[in-house]
Amino acid sequence: MTNSKGLEGVVAAETGISHIDGFHGRLYYRGIDINELATHSTFEETTALLWYGKLPTARQLESFTAKIIESRLVPNEIIALLLLLPKKTTPMGVLRTSVSALSPFDPETRDNSLEANVHKSIRLTAALPTIVAAWERIRNGLWPVTPSTTLGHAANFLYMLSGKEPDPAAARILDQCLILHADHGLNASTFAARITASTLSNLHSAITSAISTLQGPLHGGANEQVMRMLLEIGDLERVEQYMRGAFAAGRKIMGFGHRVYKADDPRALWLERLSRDLAESTGNRVWYQMSDRIRSIVQSQKPLPVNVDFYSASVYYTLGIPIDLFTSIFAISRVAGWTAHVYEQYADNRLIRPESAYIGSLDMPYTALAERN
Ligand SMILES: CC(C)(COP(=O)(O)OP(=O)(O)OC[C@H]1O[C@@H](n2cnc3c(N)ncnc32)[C@H](O)[C@@H]1OP(=O)(O)O)[C@@H](O)C(=O)NCCC(=O)NCCS
Repeated sequence: MTNSKGLEGVVAAETGISHIDGFHGRLYYRGIDINELATHSTFEETTALLWYGKLPTARQLESFTAKIIESRLVPNEIIALLLLLPKKTTPMGVLRTSVSALSPFDPETRDNSLEANVHKSIRLTAALPTIVAAWERIRNGLWPVTPSTTLGHAANFLYMLSGKEPDPAAARILDQCLILHADHGLNASTFAARITASTLSNLHSAITSAISTLQGPLHGGANEQVMRMLLEIGDLERVEQYMRGAFAAGRKIMGFGHRVYKADDPRALWLERLSRDLAESTGNRVWYQMSDRIRSIVQSQKPLPVNVDFYSASVYYTLGIPIDLFTSIFAISRVAGWTAHVYEQYADNRLIRPESAYIGSLDMPYTALAERN
């Protein structure tokens, strides 16, 4: 038996969905370099690629997109549930609770066939942006915006947040962000989804597990922490002093380091360009400039790759998205990958059940209650 803390270096599944070449900093979905996809594709098309294994034809994409649009409305009971939640509930907490609550409303909830799972995945992928945007409105005392029946996935999300049709350039930037976050090998939340699926529990349970796992700051929660750090520093001139303090205190810098990448994460390099372009087009350069300076200081001190969460923070912030929604945007995208992995798990399932190395005592006496102190 091998013992690997954090399962580092352990291969726990075979997958044909995405491949990370951590040494060269490359990422592929179904064999296609993500740079190609971020340049030419849309989130909807990338999702079809992940689920069906190849790029859809024009007709297939049209029908796939129409099905997602048709599924955008969530049951009224889910909106009623949101109205009952305490306003301090985090958007990721809202998503976790809502996906779990959606399960009994789904007509195919107990059917684990591939066909039913694709239908459920369409409904979930369509529902996640509606739920996050509805929560943002409800917690601000506003009524949710009815989803658009014409806008693309990213544009519709921005529309449902503000009630106004977004600038197409902003929508395209968010669309690219969604493409870049859609799948990433056996990351922690995907593993959680596969573990849940491996017990033959249903798709909604697997996605609920995945959302719970994504929200931690060592995983998807890092993008929110990056923005909080930028705001705490507040000024380009304060970056060096802040970083000296962080290193002296042995603090981890969010948005850096990765279990698999040794070279910079290719998604981060894309997001860096998006952050820079947004800084230029809006004239709001401070977050990009601070990020850039932080990166050069961190990488001059430690050989840490910059990861996906680092520049996504300044991109989302400059797009006007509230900080505590950042991780839920990750979930809105990653649901495409999670569901694809659930199909793979069911298709060749074996219960995922590692062992633990016991480090406690053995043969201890059972002391009667009255004799314990
Ligand atoms: C992503 C992450 C959890 C990977 O963890 P891991 O593979 O278990 O690596 P470790 O946490 O064991 O780190 C290995 C070494 O690099 C250092 N390190 C890793 N990430 C670091 C960071 N962001 N800042 C400073 N040092 C870091 C650790 O302190 C450790 O140093 P040591 O060997 O001297 O103790 C880790 O890099 C991290 O916490 N990053 C910040 C959170 C983040 O951005 N998460 C999003 C990931 S996409």
